Amino acid sequence: MPSLRIPLPKNLARLIASFIYQPRVTYEFPIAMLENGRKSLHVLPDGYEYRLATEADCAAIATLLTADTGFGTWTAERVKSELLDRLIDPRAGAIMLYKGTPVGCGFVTDASTRRKRVAHGMYLYFTPAHRGKKPVTHYGVYQTMAVAADLNYDRVIGESDPWRFSVLLLHLSNGCVPLKNSLYSHIQWFMIERRLRPALTALAKRQARKAAAN
Ligand SMILES: CC(C)(COP(=O)(O)OP(=O)(O)OC[C@H]1O[C@@H](n2cnc3c(N)ncnc32)[C@H](O)[C@@H]1OP(=O)(O)O)[C@@H](O)C(=O)NCCC(=O)NCCS
Repeated sequence: MPSLRIPLPKNLARLIASFIYQPRVTYEFPIAMLENGRKSLHVLPDGYEYRLATEADCAAIATLLTADTGFGTWTAERVKSELLDRLIDPRAGAIMLYKGTPVGCGFVTDASTRRKRVAHGMYLYFTPAHRGKKPVTHYGVYQTMAVAADLNYDRVIGESDPWRFSVLLLHLSNGCVPLKNSLYSHIQWFMIERRLRPALTALAKRQARKAAAN
């Protein structure tokens, strides 16, 4: 018996598939969280300098991003075309220096649709020696991301591999909202939240103690 095949246009098939499975998880940065985050930034520790990324930094940024094996291979040209040329504003791409050496970077690019202005946080990266220092990573996140709030973007979105627990902890502990935008994402977020629950609880307790002491 001939099998019954209903031809689906390729795009429709892809759309249906994306409702079921997406390999990466997505989260939203509420605008108020970005504004408050920027207001509560601390002075950077000695030796650190935050500055806007320019074309002259493309090679250094490529070296930083290539150091993360999950980000693929970067060249100065790729940094320019995929990141610097697509920034929502020149203030939305930055590098962090330590004693003059680039040690971190972060970008916000435009991913607007016909109906909504959407900003997309991209490629936050710090070298291992400069992680675990909240004032430094927070600077990297909020100085660039809050630019989307200044520009009245409707939504600010981020995306991550589900196994990148450090960045997920950083964002969830600051008030990011998980987006459950595919069937599989419900399972992914359940597993992420279960894995990060002890760290999130410890952080919340630490913050409450600090607030009570002030
Ligand atoms: C994302 C990044 C900037 C965050 O830096 P950071 O805030 O300084 O965080 P750290 O890397 O020191 O890790 C932070 C926390 O994650 C926790 N963590 C890491 N792996 C974990 C795991 N498998 N399970 C549970 N918690 C985990 C750590 O315990 C640490 O918590 P603590 O500081 O309360 O002890 C940095 O980790 C980085 O550059 N990573 C590589 C690039 C990357 O993943 N970028 C995001 C792309 S979407």
